[in-house]
Amino acid sequence: MPDSQFTKRVFSGIKPSGGMTMGNYLGAIKRWVQMQDEEYETIYCVVDLHAITVWQDPADLKRSTHEVAAAMIASGIDPARSILFNQSQVPAHAELGWLFNCVARLGWMNRMTQFKEKAGKNAEKQSLGLYAYPSLMAADILAYHATHVPVGEDQKQHVELTRDIAAKFNHDYGVEFFPMTEPVIEGPGMRVMNLRDGTKKMSKSGESDMERINMLDDADAISKKFKKARTDPEPLPEVMDGLKNRPEAKNLVEIYAALAGITPDSVLNLYGGEGWGKFKPALADLAVEKLAPISGEMTRLMDAPDELDRILAAGADKAAEIAEPILERTFEIMGFVRGRR
Ligand code: TYM
Repeated sequence: MPDSQFTKRVFSGIKPSGGMTMGNYLGAIKRWVQMQDEEYETIYCVVDLHAITVWQDPADLKRSTHEVAAAMIASGIDPARSILFNQSQVPAHAELGWLFNCVARLGWMNRMTQFKEKAGKNAEKQSLGLYAYPSLMAADILAYHATHVPVGEDQKQHVELTRDIAAKFNHDYGVEFFPMTEPVIEGPGMRVMNLRDGTKKMSKSGESDMERINMLDDADAISKKFKKARTDPEPLPEVMDGLKNRPEAKNLVEIYAALAGITPDSVLNLYGGEGWGKFKPALADLAVEKLAPISGEMTRLMDAPDELDRILAAGADKAAEIAEPILERTFEIMGFVRGRR
């Protein structure tokens, strides 16, 4: 089956570990919402099996699962138009993940920069799951024969690994069963940086809350965080070239661009020559304008966890309808005896 015969299908996911950040919104969800109006079938997942690669308190896991689902819905993911579910309710992910553990090579996993960053000097103490995680991510994607995966920059290497796994499987078994999935990484906001250190990614798990904007932050917190964000003494330049070697300044301009849906150069057309005293409050106002309606709706949804659970369960039923036949065919290709079903 040549690639062109695969249905244009999007799969993407977010781990329920810690609170949702502006990085998750700009790098992922914002684009996911738009893709519902394009020519794709869209499948969005709260990837809870990935969250437990590092310790999760059970009550926190439940709360974070609800928070991620609420963030997606409040941002505009429509459960009537997209399949929205949590990963652990569709066993095909874990099953295909195991099969892919036997396709992926140790040398490939050893190259994963995210594992190296997360494990640091303590690699020996990390869970085996954290190391194997990218092959479960490949299973998430390929269980649906997804052709497109919208993600932030930090996930690009994992999508490339997914292609390597698909190619090796197809080659080893002499089939053209899995597609060559494309990462979709475009526009500003694909790598939102830490507000205190522009060389580090904004993440859910950073040490200080001041380094990130949470989707649930109120207007005061957002203003305070941007006001205190690290910058440099220079005014904003007229063109993006002037932001070379100014990572914090570049980050704030890109955040503005991503929130406003314009290019970073257009931001500099508006603010070139201005100082931070003018730009930071404008950025904070824009962030509040975009995030406040979403956080309000998120809070409302999180107060109705039963409703969220119903949505996730219905989504899981639809997801399983696609994933199960693909998993079954994978078992068959590999030579497993499957008399039960
Ligand atoms: P996770 O949960 O760390 O992040 C979810 C999504 O948010 C994006 N993102 C960012 N984008 C820009 N700037 C940032 N600072 C930033 N922080 C996070 C991530 O790139 C991602 O798109 N392994 C994945 C989850 C996953 C997945 C999948 C994704 C599991 N299976 C299959 C796609 C397809 C992860 O840990 O994302």
